[in-house]
Amino acid sequence: MPRKKHIKIAEVKNFANVFGYKDENVFQNICNYFSHKSGFTLELGCGQGDYTINLAQLHKRKNFIGVDRKPSRIYNGAKHSNEIKIANVGFLVGYAELLAEIFAPSSVDEIWITFPDPYPRRSSMKKRLTHPRFLEIYKRILKSGGVVNLKTDDDTLYNYTLKVVDELGLKLIKESNDLYSSSKLTDEEKILTKYERQHLAEGKKIKLVKFSF
Ligand SMILES: C[S@@+](CC[C@H](N)C(=O)[O-])C[C@H]1O[C@@H](n2cnc3c(N)ncnc32)[C@H](O)[C@@H]1O
Repeated sequence: MPRKKHIKIAEVKNFANVFGYKDENVFQNICNYFSHKSGFTLELGCGQGDYTINLAQLHKRKNFIGVDRKPSRIYNGAKHSNEIKIANVGFLVGYAELLAEIFAPSSVDEIWITFPDPYPRRSSMKKRLTHPRFLEIYKRILKSGGVVNLKTDDDTLYNYTLKVVDELGLKLIKESNDLYSSSKLTDEEKILTKYERQHLAEGKKIKLVKFSF
């Protein structure tokens, strides 16, 4: 592993706004960190946490947590949000697979899944972050009526997610296979991530699926 990455991984773990899934009492530590006692909005596979940081700036009285399994990916967002002193942002180094072991039932208001790895092969379908095994986890930690948003550039993942939502009888709130062709976007939907900017530069269409349980 390159030395720079090693340093980032060691450093990020000491940031006050970064929590690790292996830490003792991680949920309690997260709750203690945030001053607003409302629920949490999570960004899964957050990378540098563009949604986490921008949503936090739009909604200053709510709490936002970026979740990524790779601490080196979180580093830039965690450092930046510390520097600009956004108090309602935190990051969790952890796996989406473990969310129900970390977050209390009904403690989460909303989930954003932003440009996850699409796992196009059928043999890897179980790794897609909208596979029913993940939806079961999200359902456990979400409050009643809590919403899941998927943003992706990938047709297979988009169509797969719509199929899963339909087959499980979930409530489809909004979907688009070309989000930016619409003039009716919310401020939340307009937030761009690092990967999203790259996909747009390559001329790809951005898709959205928004649903609840
Ligand atoms: C393609 S990147 C997208 C990053 C960011 N959301 C963006 O749009 O710029 C996908 C991210 O998901 C993370 N990831 C993949 N599987 C995950 C899992 N099961 N739990 C948590 N993070 C995961 C990866 O480490 C990676 O940072």
